Amino acid sequence: MKKVYLETYGCQMNVSDSERVASNLAGNGYEMTENEENADVILINTCSVREKAEHKLYSRVGRIRHADRPKPVIGVMGCVAQLEGNTLFKKIEGVDLVLGTRAVGRAAKALSSVFEGKTDVIDLGEREENYDWTVADTHRHSPYVAFVPIIEGCNKFCTYCIVPFSRGRERSLTAAEIVRQVLELRRNGVREVHLIGQNVNSYRPESNVGLEGFEGKSAFSKLLRAVAATGIERIKFTTSFPRDFHEDIVDAIEEHPNLCNWVHLPVQSGSNRVLKHMKRGHTIDRYLKQIDRLRASSRDIAITTDIIVGFPGETEQDFQESVDLVKYCGYDSAYIFRYSPRPGTPAFEMEDDVTDAEKTLRFLELEKEQKASQNRRLTRYLGAEVSVLVENRSTRTENGLTGHSTCHKIVNFVGSDDLLGQVVNVKINEIKTNSLFGELV
Ligand code: SAH
Ligand code: SF4
Ligand code: F3S
Repeated sequence: MKKVYLETYGCQMNVSDSERVASNLAGNGYEMTENEENADVILINTCSVREKAEHKLYSRVGRIRHADRPKPVIGVMGCVAQLEGNTLFKKIEGVDLVLGTRAVGRAAKALSSVFEGKTDVIDLGEREENYDWTVADTHRHSPYVAFVPIIEGCNKFCTYCIVPFSRGRERSLTAAEIVRQVLELRRNGVREVHLIGQNVNSYRPESNVGLEGFEGKSAFSKLLRAVAATGIERIKFTTSFPRDFHEDIVDAIEEHPNLCNWVHLPVQSGSNRVLKHMKRGHTIDRYLKQIDRLRASSRDIAITTDIIVGFPGETEQDFQESVDLVKYCGYDSAYIFRYSPRPGTPAFEMEDDVTDAEKTLRFLELEKEQKASQNRRLTRYLGAEVSVLVENRSTRTENGLTGHSTCHKIVNFVGSDDLLGQVVNVKINEIKTNSLFGELV
């Protein structure tokens, strides 16, 4: 049996694709291995969202080729594969296989071509008609948590972003299929599902099947109610797109305790001028109304975001508006990125006029502000009890366990292994930047 080592970069969609590739390969006579050294095949699932992510691939393949061992088959999947296609064979020596973002269901087929002796095997095709979105239990990243894609692709074309080019147009799964998957996962012991998509709230299935009888002002809020009705213990969803984030989503969270109290709502900038150049389709005013509604909720909803610093033309004044926004919103956490020009995107044609040094200064200043407001915000957990799904042993402390709260915080505490997979209450007695510590109640 050929052994395959699969490594994954990028977002949850890539993690999810990797899980399905592993299922597909294992079902077709390959063995998945955790051990890179004795693998016959190394598959790299790549991300292209920032330049750095791409550089990683180039150096990674180099290291595999120069390792002291027979050269394995090297396959590139994911967004870099989709965007670069055939050129990868020329650009990076040693690549045998290129598999696009919608070709993951044909991984086994492509690999067998390689083993039959074909060179430069490439598949950038569309999904097969009967594409199977399920993942075998043994190939999920966690036995207790499962990613369920509900929409793939992106139609938004924010001017800085490569994703619409690497992932193609939006396509939603039917609610009937999503609910079927969630019920099956629930039967198999999964406690928490993450409904995933580049923009989950842009969910727009071709047919209404599975949504009949569910209330909601949009297909997405109907879907939330339909998934809540499966009775699965916890439901999280990410990412939400501000332009399509309707209050009804908050209503659904308030109605259903199994819809978790966490919303990831990337704002990208605090300046209306910059948002316009980014073509985000929302204003700060509207965004803050959404924040206010979330804050006013009867559920204590954690809010997280993404912000870019140094977008072309971002002035010091624009940047200060991002700082003010972070102060106002009091995010539970924020991913801050330095703008990275991506060839092929509209912003690539704009002058990248904020210097690297200035981007770094802005990054650090915004990070400092975020950490301070995050700290203020997180103190609300001190002495409070949170419900935690116990996912793993923690390497940090003896008998340590770790998991996530419903508000998607990492929570560490001491307890025995038989709690793995259980939902327990933990009383928080310490907060750190990216995690909470407490004791079992
Ligand atoms: N669909 C999600 C974002 C997916 S990409 C949304 O619209 O919010 C994840 C994050 O990467 C983005 O939110 C953005 O903050 C960042 N990002 C995307 N393109 C980037 C670029 N060219 N440079 C820097 N950061 C970028
Ligand atoms: Fe990229 Fe914008 Fe689509 Fe998000 S919504 S994936 S930032 S184009
Ligand atoms: Fe990266 Fe592709 Fe996801 S570019 S963020 S892996 S959709």
